[in-house]
Amino acid sequence: MRVQVVIIGGGPSGLLLGQLLHQKGIDTLVLERKTRDYVLGRIRAGVLEVGFVNLMREAGVAKRMERESFIHGGTVISYEDMQFGINFEALTGNHVVVYGQTEVTRDLYDARAAVGAKTVFNTEHVEIHGADSDAPYVTYQVDGTEHRVDCDYVAGCDGFHGISRQSIPLTVRREYEKVYPFGWLGILSETPPVNDELIYAGSDRGFALCSMRNANLSRYYIQCSLSDHAEDWTDAAFWQELKRRIPAEAAERLVTGPSIEKSIAPLRSFVCEPMRWGRLFLCGDAAHIVPPTGAKGLNTAASDIHYLYHALVQVYETGETEGINRYSEKALARVWKTQRFSWWMTTLLHRFPHQSEFDLKVQKAEIAFLRDSRDAQTVLAQNYVGLPY
Ligand code: FAD
Ligand code: PHB
Repeated sequence: MRVQVVIIGGGPSGLLLGQLLHQKGIDTLVLERKTRDYVLGRIRAGVLEVGFVNLMREAGVAKRMERESFIHGGTVISYEDMQFGINFEALTGNHVVVYGQTEVTRDLYDARAAVGAKTVFNTEHVEIHGADSDAPYVTYQVDGTEHRVDCDYVAGCDGFHGISRQSIPLTVRREYEKVYPFGWLGILSETPPVNDELIYAGSDRGFALCSMRNANLSRYYIQCSLSDHAEDWTDAAFWQELKRRIPAEAAERLVTGPSIEKSIAPLRSFVCEPMRWGRLFLCGDAAHIVPPTGAKGLNTAASDIHYLYHALVQVYETGETEGINRYSEKALARVWKTQRFSWWMTTLLHRFPHQSEFDLKVQKAEIAFLRDSRDAQTVLAQNYVGLPY
């Protein structure tokens, strides 16, 4: 078998790239290790930048998103006795959109099936061969049978635990990492959100986030210990802890109910350089991870897809390789800015195990500065709504 571009990973990065390339008549094969239902069962991102929404439009898959998503023109920050809003619209003229990653992925899978583009699920032993040659190919197994697909380019969209990044030799690859000494325990519940806007709350008991998917589906997170297990947290214990970390008025009006999903995500910052090796291009979580505090993971995956999509269209339409030659440099320039922002939001709002009294005073002073400075709020807002591509 032969296709122009093999896409490894059927998460949002791989599916979005596949759909954009399809619109330009470039054929792709998506190889996904899990089943469609498994991928759709992962509850992850909820906040999308307008840049992401525009890419979905360009891919022709934004209809349901336009109907069912919610525009958020600001967010609330709370820290001990301080509470204030960050008005994205007033500060940047821009907003973010609340629409779950599950829905994004569902729309992309439906669109891919509708145009008859090929996806292979349950792939095992995926291997990239000759990425640094002019004739790359990918081998994989399904139900024990070996398959080979020849291609022009390989897009490594297989997330943090995928094989694409590992295919770049250690002599070429350099990795930068910061592991945080805590995780986020998240629950999804069929209850109305506690607030119209998201609440990012720092407290002496640790961080909490009030988010949502729609008018009757809430998503809440609390900072937890890395040794915690989601199954040991009863719903009652979760709600009680959340209430102790968010503003008192919010805690009073919080509607609780049974959780329909509960999981723990460890927090990590990670970047792999370069993001290209020969004809292999890394995109999204395969190349970089951020702690979720700034809502940047999926959005940064989308900016990689933007650069790679334009680079591939350029090479197929004009033969010009400037875009693919500069892909890694362009993508990484934006990646490092989102890394900085995500690290900053995380540091500002979480409790760290060995924080001294001095560290806490500085953290509090920084929140007070943010509350009182329009300039500081503008910097947060510009990063949160998304830096230009
Ligand atoms: P993935 O979603 O990881 O997809 C990779 C796919 O590749 C998977 O389906 C996997 O099964 C498949 N795969 C892996 N290995 C192989 C292989 N060897 N062969 C074939 N297939 C393979 N981001 C935001 O922008 N906003 C948010 O609000 C936000 N909130 C988050 C909250 C939480 C709790 C978490 C955990 C993350 C959050 N993120 C957020 C981050 C976001 O979910 C990720 O950045 C996003 O999923 C990255 O998409 P991806 O397609 O690059 O990788
Ligand atoms: C979410 O709704 O899952 C979400 C929102 C904002 C974040 C992280 C996660 O910063």
